[in-house]
Amino acid sequence: MTSKALLAATALAALTLALPATAAELTVGFSQIGSESGWRAAETSVSKSEATKRKVTLKIADAQQKQENQIKAIRSFIAQGVDAIFLAPVVSSGWDAVLKEAKEAKIPVVLLDRDIDPSGKELYLTAVTSDSVHEGAVAGEWLAKTVAGKPCNVVELQGTVGASVATNRKKGFDGVVAKNANLKVVRSQTGDFTRAKGKEVMESFIKAEGGGKNICAVYAHNDDMMVGAIQAMKEAGLKPGKDILTVSIDAVPDIFKAIAAGEANATVELTPNMAGPALDAIMAYKAKGTVPPKWIQTESKLYTAADDPQKIYDSKKGLGY
Ligand code: AHR
Repeated sequence: MTSKALLAATALAALTLALPATAAELTVGFSQIGSESGWRAAETSVSKSEATKRKVTLKIADAQQKQENQIKAIRSFIAQGVDAIFLAPVVSSGWDAVLKEAKEAKIPVVLLDRDIDPSGKELYLTAVTSDSVHEGAVAGEWLAKTVAGKPCNVVELQGTVGASVATNRKKGFDGVVAKNANLKVVRSQTGDFTRAKGKEVMESFIKAEGGGKNICAVYAHNDDMMVGAIQAMKEAGLKPGKDILTVSIDAVPDIFKAIAAGEANATVELTPNMAGPALDAIMAYKAKGTVPPKWIQTESKLYTAADDPQKIYDSKKGLGY
């Protein structure tokens, strides 16, 4: 090889090394919470299809609702040298140490659907989430408008204790209650985002509130807990959606089925497609160094019986929920 050719070959090799990974070469580790709700199952399945669309290898670790399993999964992704880590944090605190390890290993982290405490802000690249305070406010405003000034005792089914979305959905709803003297939250307890716990807690609320006579509305931080609560109301001889109003969050197919049957009244949509925008952000970051905004916000839309719930149920039921 002439010295000119050698120089050209060396330059090409250096350029190749400097070139960003193509999407086909990207491997992303996703520490998923588990499968506590229909929404969560849909998020997992949509994440897989969004990665396939972009030819990204997605490794999903199911933490079975335990933060310690999520921390182990993140450490294992770091050891494997993945290109990025997606994290749906089960609770908002306790991430600083492991996220510092990811930062030291130069692996960008993207939060999906839940936030972490402000102390961790510098430790992740971006967060793809809804405005969960706003979701609670949308639910509260729907109720305030529907009862139109009449006194209304509300029971609340909260999400997982310590999860950002549970704290925020409560805060948003409470903000509306504070502005409407006719609304009163008489009982509030966690149902851990599951159908079984939602049913169990609603049964205890019904017992404690005169067989349900003193309850005007149920606000649940997700639809799965509401589906459980609807079952509890029916078993207690009550007519959910009529005797007791319902408003919840997620917009999963089963709540549209209940709205179509007149057994639920309203839901606020949370898209299960958090991975699509997250993958786009990571691909642009890896390819061109484009730094995404710190928060990629998804929409929160209210649905009621006026929105053709049967049609929405039919269109959503095959999407992995
Ligand atoms: O973080 C999003 C929430 O987590 C969903 O609203 C709920 O269904 C899930 O468990």
